[in-house]
Amino acid sequence: MTLSLPEFNYVRRLVLEHSAIVLEEDKGYLVESRLLPLARREGFASLDHLVQRLQSEPFNGLHRQAVEALTTNETSFFRDFHPFEALRKFVLPDLMSRRAAQKELRVWCAASSSGQEPYSLAMLIRENFPVLANWKVHILATDISTGILTRAREGPYTQLEVNRGLPATLLVKYFQKRGCDWYLCDDVRRMVDYQALNLASPWPSLPLLDLVLLRNVLIYFGMETRKAILSKVRRILKPDGYFFLGASETTFNIDDSYERVQFERVTCYRVPKS
Ligand SMILES: C[S@@+](CC[C@H](N)C(=O)[O-])C[C@H]1O[C@@H](n2cnc3c(N)ncnc32)[C@H](O)[C@@H]1O
Repeated sequence: MTLSLPEFNYVRRLVLEHSAIVLEEDKGYLVESRLLPLARREGFASLDHLVQRLQSEPFNGLHRQAVEALTTNETSFFRDFHPFEALRKFVLPDLMSRRAAQKELRVWCAASSSGQEPYSLAMLIRENFPVLANWKVHILATDISTGILTRAREGPYTQLEVNRGLPATLLVKYFQKRGCDWYLCDDVRRMVDYQALNLASPWPSLPLLDLVLLRNVLIYFGMETRKAILSKVRRILKPDGYFFLGASETTFNIDDSYERVQFERVTCYRVPKS
């Protein structure tokens, strides 16, 4: 590792303090491989010089970029497949029957990364529930990283990205190829509103939600942060709403007040009626 131990520990503290992401002691290679491109882009002679500058100044845009560089934005269209099948077969039909009078659905896709997750949901709705075109369907997608949100809003995807999880029929129907990249059509893009939101900071006021997707992000946090986030989700999820975590995540032993609901191979969560 080219960073000294105090420099590495400084970066770990910076990231923990500003994103709640826990970088274990063996993540030296990750810190270096993520920060080196930032150091080069910003004209620093070495990674040391970048970290020394960070240490010498109060929190500013450079610190923000360093924290963002250390987020993991791994995602794909229809990631894990089964949760989207559960949404199509059970969850959305159930919510639609419960909200038939109001004709309104509110979804929050927290930690949405480059947009594949909210756009998968938007395409799923377009494909399977045409009647929802006459409802108010709000899909709010948030992430801590402003850089990744800019990408998500613009929606250009590489060939590799559209090859991962996106059925060819949907690629042909909803995307246009320009140059080497694929652009999602405006109609689907407009279904999703993006906002920056740090899950580990106080949240802005959010309306009560019918569906929350908080997938593959709790794994990066420590136990206290996981507990705090699950408790906040409980307060903004409607009692008959649904909550999805990532395939390797659970509320079990973190917040046992959630009710677990099994749909075929997928577990999702609800707030028990009091
Ligand atoms: C692995 S991606 C998951 C993307 C998507 N939910 C999925 O399952 O495919 C994790 C995302 O969490 C975001 N993230 C990390 N820490 C965060 C925080 N404190 N607040 C909000 N988002 C955060 C990262 O920027 C990244 O885009």
